[in-house]
Amino acid sequence: MDGRGGSIATVTLVGFACAWAAHQLARRVTRRLRDGRRAGTASCAAAAPVGRTPLVELRSLSALTGCRILAKLELLNPGGSIKDRVAWRAVLDAERAGTLRPGGTVVEGTSGSTGISLAVVARARGYSCHLVVPDDMSANKLQLIRALGVTVEVVKPASIVNDDHYVNRARAHAARLPNAVFIDQFESASNFAAHAQTTGPEIWEQCGGRLDAFVMSAGTGGTIAGVSRVLKARDPRVRVVLADPPGSSLHHRVRHGVAWAPEQAERTLQRHRYDTMVEGVGADRITSNFARALIDDAVRIGDDETVAMARALLEHEALFVGASGAMNCAAAVRTARALGPGHTIVTVLCDGGQRYTNSPFFAALVACAPQCAAHSGTVKCVNE
Ligand SMILES: Cc1ncc(COP(=O)(O)O)c(C=O)c1O
Repeated sequence: MDGRGGSIATVTLVGFACAWAAHQLARRVTRRLRDGRRAGTASCAAAAPVGRTPLVELRSLSALTGCRILAKLELLNPGGSIKDRVAWRAVLDAERAGTLRPGGTVVEGTSGSTGISLAVVARARGYSCHLVVPDDMSANKLQLIRALGVTVEVVKPASIVNDDHYVNRARAHAARLPNAVFIDQFESASNFAAHAQTTGPEIWEQCGGRLDAFVMSAGTGGTIAGVSRVLKARDPRVRVVLADPPGSSLHHRVRHGVAWAPEQAERTLQRHRYDTMVEGVGADRITSNFARALIDDAVRIGDDETVAMARALLEHEALFVGASGAMNCAAAVRTARALGPGHTIVTVLCDGGQRYTNSPFFAALVACAPQCAAHSGTVKCVNE
């Protein structure tokens, strides 16, 4: 064989080798995706990055309090909130239990964040999704849910003992459909497990086991329950503090043992159920998930303080957070002041502010110009 013939043979051989390698790689990827689907592991783009969110120091709040204030950036989950963890866990649990089979429908009653996450998961796993939502949730969240191709039933707020409450309507809808699963985030063990198996251990590892307090609000109670159980099992001295908005019964429950809100006696409502513009948190009943939480204390944070904190986070941390995350940070500052300098406090930024731009919270945030925030208790100190 002459030189030219040799090089043609070499090129052909290399070409075959490359084609064979590419074929093998494609087969491996296909097999992994298929196996992943069977095993219920995260095998698609929407699932791969759920959880393992960064824990960052909010330096302006640390400087303000003399404590280390750390925030878990749950707003970085692909569905935009902490609820991605619960949605994935609940759907995969239902698949494993055989209650959800191909072609089935995921049904839930939700005030928004869980709905968005479930819409993403349902699409990723090939299910239909039907959500029942109250009519006072932010319009952005509703738009987002609709854009994800979900069927949505919007209902008037009602008491939980009423059949028309959005949770009861969702349960009844699921019962009527064949091959449908009612996620039941308020009562389900999957919600607790998502946080006990991921959020809690992540926080512990990211802090290197050195934290003094965990501060979190409660909607379903899944996060505070799952995380508090993990942290206290590893170090019983970790203090768990509930952040609660006006109108919620949970603050009184933690402080005095009875679920009750002063607003029940005499109400001047801004929204239908609670006297707050903070969505997704606060409750008027003790859910199974909240009942599992180990909580030492509670702080009540007014909307003015929440809005001022949201503004402060924007100004000093370049973080645009949703109202519940801002409320958590305000409660973390209060906790730091109660504990005194030198402590490490972890809290959670549950979602981003982008999904509230046509809500009362955002209007208040815009109205709270930097100089307005600078006069509020929180931000004044941040600026000092
Ligand atoms: C925006 C937001 N923050 C916080 C929470 C509270 O989380 P959990 O339900 O785990 O108590 C929720 C719950 O829906 C929420 O939607």
